[in-house]
Amino acid sequence: MSVLILGATSRIAHELAHRYAENGQSVFVAARDADEAARVAADVGVRTEGTCASGRFDATDFAGHAAFLDSVRETVGPIEVAILAFGDMGDQHASEGDFEAARHVIDVNYTAAVSICELLAASMTERAAGSIVGIASVAGDRGRQSNYIYGSAKGAFALYLQGLRNRLFKSGVHVMTVKLGFVDTRMTYGLKTGIPIAAPDAVSRAIFDAQRGRSDVFYYPHFWRGIMSVVKAIPEAAFKRLSL
Ligand SMILES: NC(=O)c1ccc[n+]([C@@H]2O[C@H](COP(=O)([O-])OP(=O)(O)OC[C@H]3O[C@@H](n4cnc5c(N)ncnc54)[C@H](OP(=O)(O)O)[C@@H]3O)[C@@H](O)[C@H]2O)c1
Repeated sequence: MSVLILGATSRIAHELAHRYAENGQSVFVAARDADEAARVAADVGVRTEGTCASGRFDATDFAGHAAFLDSVRETVGPIEVAILAFGDMGDQHASEGDFEAARHVIDVNYTAAVSICELLAASMTERAAGSIVGIASVAGDRGRQSNYIYGSAKGAFALYLQGLRNRLFKSGVHVMTVKLGFVDTRMTYGLKTGIPIAAPDAVSRAIFDAQRGRSDVFYYPHFWRGIMSVVKAIPEAAFKRLSL
């Protein structure tokens, strides 16, 4: 069985590659920086004694997505599990009034994810097997002034995955939405959260277990489900007055 992990330079993705490789699966990691992806693959290979190949993947090269997936299949065979770990939070302030900056965040977090998922869905439906894991965010559960460009793209991705799960259910293809709270990675470097921040290793173990258990929507750390249900319940008239 082969596992494709996109966004391999993410610490979460790197740890996930470990989880699957140590479990005996053949892994393919891909990142914008092919050399860095190769380093991740080598590290995974050495530390797990498993098989890990690598390649270059740029989420915004939409025209190249089909050829990229073909090259992955040529290397590791049919893709049984695909994990979309790429994402770009961008700079909310820079995106305000600058459509190009906003579009980049939307393209990486949403447009690219839809393009890849549709291609994966077509091949997995044909084989009536497979699992697609999309890493979304609690930021997508409610629009906030401090990060609504990234949040709306992640929210759209979560809604998309919901529909895709619904469509693919009868063909036996599993689709899982991961809604992460704060995780200690490059993305959150220097952020003062005030809320406990999860370790990438723990996140990878939780996602690995949830994927194998064919979970539908998965919050991690788990307490974020409760936090977000409270946040979502705040009436808009009050919410718009908050500086969140
Ligand atoms: N950290 C958190 O608190 C948190 C919370 C909620 C959700 N998430 C999500 O978790 C996932 C992993 O993020 P992370 O926290 O590990 O942050 P990260 O270290 O910044 O990882 C983001 C990954 O996305 C890749 N990426 C960005 N733009 C890309 C593009 N155009 N094409 C291909 N790859 C691209 C990055 O590759 P490069 O090395 O080339 O930049 C990197 O591998 C993301 O989807 C993120 O949105 C994170």
